[in-house]
Amino acid sequence: MGTQNLIVINGNEFSFEPGETILEVARKNDIDIPTLCHLKGTTPTGSCRVCVVEVEGARSLVASCATPVSNNMVVHTESPPIIQARKVIIQLLLSSGNHNCAIRGSDGQDWTQFQLKVQKDDDSSELCPVWGDCRLQDLAYRYQVSGEKFLATETETPMETVNPFILRDFSRCINCGRCVQACNEIQVNNAINFGYRGSSTKIIAAGDRPLKDSDCVFCGECVQVCPVGALVEKDVRYQVRPWETEQIRTTCSYCGVGCQLYLHIKDNQVIKITGVEDVPPNYGNLCVKGRFGFHFISSTERLTTPLIKENGSFRDATWEEALDLVANRLNKIKDEHGPDSIGVLTSARITNEENYIANKFARGILKTNNIDHCARL
Ligand code: SF4
Ligand code: SF4
Ligand code: SF4
Ligand code: FES
Repeated sequence: MGTQNLIVINGNEFSFEPGETILEVARKNDIDIPTLCHLKGTTPTGSCRVCVVEVEGARSLVASCATPVSNNMVVHTESPPIIQARKVIIQLLLSSGNHNCAIRGSDGQDWTQFQLKVQKDDDSSELCPVWGDCRLQDLAYRYQVSGEKFLATETETPMETVNPFILRDFSRCINCGRCVQACNEIQVNNAINFGYRGSSTKIIAAGDRPLKDSDCVFCGECVQVCPVGALVEKDVRYQVRPWETEQIRTTCSYCGVGCQLYLHIKDNQVIKITGVEDVPPNYGNLCVKGRFGFHFISSTERLTTPLIKENGSFRDATWEEALDLVANRLNKIKDEHGPDSIGVLTSARITNEENYIANKFARGILKTNNIDHCARL
């Protein structure tokens, strides 16, 4: 193997680009290495160790997400020592804090007591709000372990429920740091970071204040990247399980950036919104409006019919009546004062095609070049 930039993974040879990590080369070649703390596009922290692999000649297992590839490296990704190490890591994570989903197990535990504990921990009779949509739970099933091997440790910090959109449940945080990476390196809001030390370590905002009293702008990026149930959308908690929703891809209609998002729909209602990963222009990121500003869709206060103002108050009208009125008024203004007495303002909230039609309408029908767009303001 004299050629440059070659690595062997699980007996197969692959080429790599200088600077790539073992994880990146493996994923590029469809070799699955599990991860928890790794967040694509940010500086690797190597904190969870779930991604450990064996490198021949290395003294211990290495974190594949944080280890750059070197020429002629020989790597194994699923050997018995690796599997054993991952099992212990997952067991430790499951036993620290409140991971009362099914994989916590109920051996030797009275089921009623277990349910009462769930109710006490979550203020709900249901299991963890992200049951069925949790990377730690996925790994527990994959490696067939539960959290009962080690003594369970409880978290003192109470749930933070005072924020408008985000609920923080410190008892489920595994301190993976993905939220910190997302906030600081992707959204560059620098609102949260690790605080305290040792077993007291927790994610804090503004010297350990609620998110609402910090620099947080509630973009919700941290919620989207949290692999467990430590950060959840406040309105969604216990309202829906992942398999009950249909995901429909669409474009955010709030501004001209055109972020790609998924509407999570249940019973014909939008329940939550997430960004579409790996797709331009937003690559999964959203702002507060795109992520949380969707309740208007089902609002009973939405207009369902045109309104015409008469004698200072509005009355319902048909579309035909409303359009006739507008056409007559525009014609009258044009006849009396000329086409340049009319101006048309369009919006970033409508589509390119609709803006194009507005442009045609102004120049071709009204015969004025007075047309502008709110995005220029
Ligand atoms: S919502 Fe956005 S700004 Fe606030 S902590 Fe999360 S990532 Fe940071
Ligand atoms: S809140 Fe979630 S993303 Fe942040 S450190 Fe805890 S588990 Fe990780
Ligand atoms: S998510 Fe925010 S930035 Fe993206 S299109 Fe919607 S409003 Fe614009
Ligand atoms: S994913 Fe590599 S250390 Fe966590």
